[in-house]
Amino acid sequence: MASVATSLAMVLIVVVAMSYGLLATHADINFIARTCKKTNNFALCMAVLRANPKSAQASTEHDLASIALQIATNTTRKNAAAICDLDYKHQGTPEAPVWHVCVKAHVLAAADLIAGAGPSFHVGDYADVLKIVSEAKGAGDTCENAFKAIHKTSPVTDMDRQTTEHCGLAGDLIRLLLTK
Ligand SMILES: *[C@@H]1O[C@H](CO)[C@@H](O)[C@H](O)[C@H]1NC(C)=O
Repeated sequence: MASVATSLAMVLIVVVAMSYGLLATHADINFIARTCKKTNNFALCMAVLRANPKSAQASTEHDLASIALQIATNTTRKNAAAICDLDYKHQGTPEAPVWHVCVKAHVLAAADLIAGAGPSFHVGDYADVLKIVSEAKGAGDTCENAFKAIHKTSPVTDMDRQTTEHCGLAGDLIRLLLTK
């Protein structure tokens, strides 16, 4: 009898633990959704935050803003590196000056996010973070416009849009911290 009771107790503990886990997961998703409703692009916010495993541990708007800033920084850095590579490959071509515009915009954006926005977020200077993120958000448009000006289809439209979107999301979430 004792062993049946023990087994039953263990089953109960496992069931309770599992439902607690499920509830916790739902709570996280609800929290992300509530926060994303305060941004300019709910669907984008949900997609970007839920794709990152760190979001599951977030319990405050500050946590989500921090994650979004890291995502924006990582995206911008990755895209800046890829565009540098493409710039190098287009040396001596008629499009070379356009590639230089794109490299400059993306590398400056990445450098400002890494060296400026990260440290400012850390010390709670959200106004400065917002300024840097808003400027970095413009890198994609700067590059796209440079290709438009020579009537060429940009080969980096997806990267430009990703940088714009991720910096935009980080900006939206950082703005929520300004009013606190
Ligand atoms: C951003 O990149 C760094 C370094 O590669 C990594 O440690 C960090 O987890 C990334 N952040 C997010 C939110 O993905």
